[in-house]
Amino acid sequence: MPAKILIIHGPNLALLGEREVNVYGSFTLDEINAKLQALAKQEKAELAIVQLDSEGEIVEQIGKARKEFGALVINPGAYTHYSVAIRDAIAGVGIPTVEVHLSNIYAREEFRHKSVIAPVAVGQISGFGVNSYLLGLKAALDLLKK
Ligand code: DQA
Repeated sequence: MPAKILIIHGPNLALLGEREVNVYGSFTLDEINAKLQALAKQEKAELAIVQLDSEGEIVEQIGKARKEFGALVINPGAYTHYSVAIRDAIAGVGIPTVEVHLSNIYAREEFRHKSVIAPVAVGQISGFGVNSYLLGLKAALDLLKK
């Protein structure tokens, strides 16, 4: 049975490649997803990748994930800093979760320094651009092997 991992890109991440390239880099979401799929193929893992702007849809997706996925890699975007609903969904389903950020949220504005998601995630990777996602996927794959 292949390891099945859900990747959730949160709000505004569809704009990658155009949006604040000095902060988020010039890779588009499709390019990031292609890199993730290539790594998954190499590791014989199966990925489902979604980008969702709305908090409710993210909560819904996490709720449904419990039946199908062994791990979750999520970039919650701005919801990172205040969405108790997404935090509760992750805690509720109990799927091992890796939180990722392209930028180093601790080196930016003070309101980004707090993550309400981090306490319910296994860990957080922040500041490595597209590599944050690849490192996040590697961490998730390792969690599944345990
Ligand atoms: C982000 C950091 C968040 O503070 C911001 O709101 C984003 C992207 C990142 O990947 O660096 O939308 O999650």
